[in-house]
Amino acid sequence: MTHILCVVGARPNFMKMAPIIAALKADGFAVTLVHTGQHYDAAMNDVVFEQLRLPVPDVNLEVGSASHAQQTGEVMKRIEPVLLEKKPDAVLVVGDVNSTLAAALTAVKLGIKVIHVEAGLRSRDRAMPEEINRILTDQISDILFTTEREAEYNLAAEGVARERVVFAGNVMIDSLRANLAAAVPPSESAGRALPSKGYALVTLHRPSNVADPRVLKPLLAVLGEIASGMLLVFPVHPRTAARIKEFGAGDFLTAPGVIALPPASYLAMLGLMADAALVLTDSGGVQEETTALGVPCLTLRENTERPITVTEGTNTVVGTDPARIRAAFDDVVKKGGKRGRVPEYWDGQAAVRIAAALKQRL
Ligand code: UD1
Repeated sequence: MTHILCVVGARPNFMKMAPIIAALKADGFAVTLVHTGQHYDAAMNDVVFEQLRLPVPDVNLEVGSASHAQQTGEVMKRIEPVLLEKKPDAVLVVGDVNSTLAAALTAVKLGIKVIHVEAGLRSRDRAMPEEINRILTDQISDILFTTEREAEYNLAAEGVARERVVFAGNVMIDSLRANLAAAVPPSESAGRALPSKGYALVTLHRPSNVADPRVLKPLLAVLGEIASGMLLVFPVHPRTAARIKEFGAGDFLTAPGVIALPPASYLAMLGLMADAALVLTDSGGVQEETTALGVPCLTLRENTERPITVTEGTNTVVGTDPARIRAAFDDVVKKGGKRGRVPEYWDGQAAVRIAAALKQRL
């Protein structure tokens, strides 16, 4: 039996891994699940695991939060003995978080094959920690599964051999399709009645947006302005909550029209996204999910590693300039926003294709 050791660390890994593990098991692979413990709060972690019916991890490395070097180093130190003991035929990592790179680097140095799901995405912004994780993980991976065609060109440009790359589609959308019918009604998540397609959903967590008061405060100011015309639902990431408090900007969270919530569960988030008039976000995954749902998305960053959400989907990259955000919001309200279409292979079958390809290649 081929044995694959799957690694997750942070929230956006969970929805990608759930369908992969199900498909691997259905195809007769032996699967071990390792959680690095990068995310640990119940709201970011346990609830999401349960909702996605992910198996309880065989091992939890409990690395927790720390600087990038410490977090990455701790995962490496703690996962090495696990790999030596479990002796998997391959290690499978998803996405671009610190745990992704740390597990891949440890495995490759032990001579274990590395499989990277969601390979080849590039923002070309090296100040973004995830961009470094993406580039390095792809360089040391043996089998690379991509979500969009552009990723293949990126990998080719970096010298990754064509035969290592497989276009499988988007496993995050597998999860979305499998769970949409069970989404939590938005009013339940918000604790009050919400007009269908009559509110905006906001998520903000990137250090580039929340670490500096000179960026965060103007962002909150324009969001507050928007909230005076349309209800704004804002599930707040723990880092963002801490910075808002530190910068003395807590008034925003209780401003009229702003519904601040603790981090939303996966099923709550699906419900909130699906019924929103539009979503404003700096998340990567949310750009893809809104494209799959056909809901307009304004990305509060200067770039995206997921260009297909712009060329085919509902996404517009608007940056962090308040005037631009305001204009883009007004435009969506006036014209209804981009409709888009669902990209190739974002069809709920990506994990099945991945398992089938691995059966051939391992
Ligand atoms: C990580 C990923 C990012 C992903 C995000 C989703 C990296 C480099 N970044 O960023 O790509 O979009 O997850 O959330 O891996 N914290 C808690 N409870 C938790 C986890 C974190 O309170 O369960 C707080 C801690 O103060 C911590 C901070 O959030 O310092 C940041 O956590 P960390 O794991 O470093 O990265 P994220 O910003 O969540």
